[in-house]
Amino acid sequence: MSDALLQVSDLQMFFPIYQGILINRHVGDVRAVDGVSLSINRGETVGLVGESGCGKSTVGRTILRLYNPTGGRIVFEGDDITQVKGAALRAVRRRMQMIFQDPYASLNPRMTAAGIVAEPLEIHGVGVGKERRERVRELLATVGLDPDYGDRFPHEFSGGQRQRIGVARALALHPDLIVADEPISALDVSIQAQIINLLERLQDEFGLTYLFIAHDLSVVRHISDRIAVMYLGRIVEMAGTRELYKRPMHPYTVALLSAVPIPDPQIESRRRRIILTGDVPSPSNPPAGCHFHPRCWLRARLGNPERCIAEAPALRTMDNGHEVSCHFAEEVDGSAEQQLQVTGPGAAKNATGSASPPDAPPPPVAPPAPVAPPAPPSVPAGPVPRPRDRG
Ligand SMILES: Nc1ncnc2c1ncn2[C@@H]1O[C@H](COP(=O)(O)OP(=O)(O)OP(=O)(O)O)[C@@H](O)[C@H]1O
Ligand code: SF4
Ligand SMILES: [Mg+2]
Repeated sequence: MSDALLQVSDLQMFFPIYQGILINRHVGDVRAVDGVSLSINRGETVGLVGESGCGKSTVGRTILRLYNPTGGRIVFEGDDITQVKGAALRAVRRRMQMIFQDPYASLNPRMTAAGIVAEPLEIHGVGVGKERRERVRELLATVGLDPDYGDRFPHEFSGGQRQRIGVARALALHPDLIVADEPISALDVSIQAQIINLLERLQDEFGLTYLFIAHDLSVVRHISDRIAVMYLGRIVEMAGTRELYKRPMHPYTVALLSAVPIPDPQIESRRRRIILTGDVPSPSNPPAGCHFHPRCWLRARLGNPERCIAEAPALRTMDNGHEVSCHFAEEVDGSAEQQLQVTGPGAAKNATGSASPPDAPPPPVAPPAPVAPPAPPSVPAGPVPRPRDRG
């Protein structure tokens, strides 16, 4: 897992704002992604987390070149794909696919499951006739659906089964990279673990690389090798999963972590939720300096230093390997807020004073019990292994 499949440097994606009745004037931009750098190694899963509107989906879509980036560079397998067009872009798109958040909205209700899965094969001219039909059946079976139900329409499947169709479609062209944009947010909790387990099994089977987008830290923990935390178009912290939960270094990460429940009532009763006041500011008019400064609990505690407004903090690598964008991240380390919120190894010690070895693996969180799909159609869900616990 040492070779970078994807390298993104200083990526920007601005959406122009126009105003005027007779003459459309360009009056500003929605700075949805404003200087994001990250790399993903082959076979790795990177979680991308942040509140609604911070630009997660736009990062994913821009990487897949569904948008033309405003600035920055995207390198995929050593090739600069930032500006590729035409046949070269189509070739790149075969190797990078997306799984969407809403399996209800992302599947064409007028197409059968087999038609939906076959669509990318048709677009890219892969196989014909029987060969293509066989490939579709194989894909449906791979994601745990009965191939004989390929002639059914999306409304005849449950939410989890629909997401499996979306996964089969994403797999159709043997991609290397899959951007999974909140793939379980619209599903019942009981079904979420099944889809996570499916994605992990497919990763092992096909050597897939994932950018897994979610809006809270509880979802990405068990699937991600590393996690990037995003706020208003920028990455504010990036670290290995275990490290991030054990020792968050950015005030925003600490606040997000405070919302993640710990499955231990004793520890949970001693934790304190950090409530961030106000909404995420508009990306068309982001706050000066550090974008997080109007909501930052650390800045308030430090007496509102001017530097947070005057100077945008660069993403710097700290001595524990975290990349953090905060002028005063050293003040977070060891703070009561950090110690009370950590949910990784050492959480028990931090919250209760009881001795738990600092590097012991965290208590496993059991996935919700799989729920049988509704009948009809009673499509088998396939084997459901337990999720790997990477955090
Ligand atoms: N095509 C577009 N045109 C104009 N603005 C857009 C477009 N797509 C996204 N935006 C804006 O860019 C910002 C980031 O949107 P994005 O969908 O990437 O956020 P997100 O983090 O994925 O949010 P959510 O968790 O709600 O899905 C938002 O302010 C959004 O309104
Ligand atoms: S730079 Fe200032 S405002 Fe930004 S996160 Fe750090 S302390 Fe808070
Ligand atoms: Mg989104």
